[in-house]
Amino acid sequence: MNDFFKDMDMGLRSDPKRLSSKYFYDDQGSRIFQEIMALAEYYLTNKEEEIFIKRSHEIIEALKPLKALDVVELGAGDGSKTKLLLGELLRQHVITRFLPIDISAEALVSLERTMRNDLPSLQVNALVGDYHDVMDELEVEAPTRLFLFLGSNIGNYPPPSNQELIRFVSSEMRVGDFLMLGADLRKHPAIIRKAYDDSQGVTKRFNLNLLARMNRELGMNFIMDQWDFYCQYDPLNGELRSFLVSLEDQMAHCRPLNSDYHFTKNEVIWTELSKKYLLSELEELGKGAGLTVISHFMDEDRYFSDSLFKKEEL
Ligand code: AVI
Repeated sequence: MNDFFKDMDMGLRSDPKRLSSKYFYDDQGSRIFQEIMALAEYYLTNKEEEIFIKRSHEIIEALKPLKALDVVELGAGDGSKTKLLLGELLRQHVITRFLPIDISAEALVSLERTMRNDLPSLQVNALVGDYHDVMDELEVEAPTRLFLFLGSNIGNYPPPSNQELIRFVSSEMRVGDFLMLGADLRKHPAIIRKAYDDSQGVTKRFNLNLLARMNRELGMNFIMDQWDFYCQYDPLNGELRSFLVSLEDQMAHCRPLNSDYHFTKNEVIWTELSKKYLLSELEELGKGAGLTVISHFMDEDRYFSDSLFKKEEL
């Protein structure tokens, strides 16, 4: 039984029911996520891009003195934001190697094509797989390495897995290496809610695709129009939670496991946490992994932070 079967079975038997957002990203889900990133209401992408457009120069100053740098990006996707930073490194004649890591081979092929066209002098060594497995294969070349974990991905890791992940990255870092963590910050609660409860229902489709994916890959029989989407933001702790809502008393069957899952009318399945951080929480997260904050690079509205940490001598 593969992990998807196991996680689905365990999640739909637990109380409250839950499914992991890591399963959102099959090809169809990845395409819907691209649509989300293009929505004006989903400000996260534009704000992080603004940081790289306006502040790449300052970011590089904070990394100096630099001769050569290996940039390792976890969950690189299409690399469009990173390209801005890498372009500036090349302009400043820092010898740079880019090692993007992603679970999707398709995403990495398109990233390599983009880099070949736009930054032909950049050496790119793409690594396909889960970053826990792939990080151990990294060959140390440059004297300094910059690890990137961007796009508010850390927000999708419920505690304690957020701290565990940063500890894991830190355990792979040498003294003097850097980590840049892209995190969505607290702001007016209505702005945050609208980024997920979007007017065109794209985020709803993104969540419903998880049920469709289980039908496709796990031999299940969810009926799409018997499900809705709901999200809730708690300004007291910065947690935006997404749910699928059952509109009927209903059952879903999994053919390969020969098991049934029952849902009562209005019962929810928790699908995702999208945590909004305080700068102090980010600093705590770093500190818990032996990393010191160097600077928080933010957009003008202070909606988003790309926070730079350094691994210091103990
Ligand atoms: C990938 N991740 C940071 C997104 C987020 O904002 O939590 C995924 C997403 N879910 C709904 N909209 C976007």
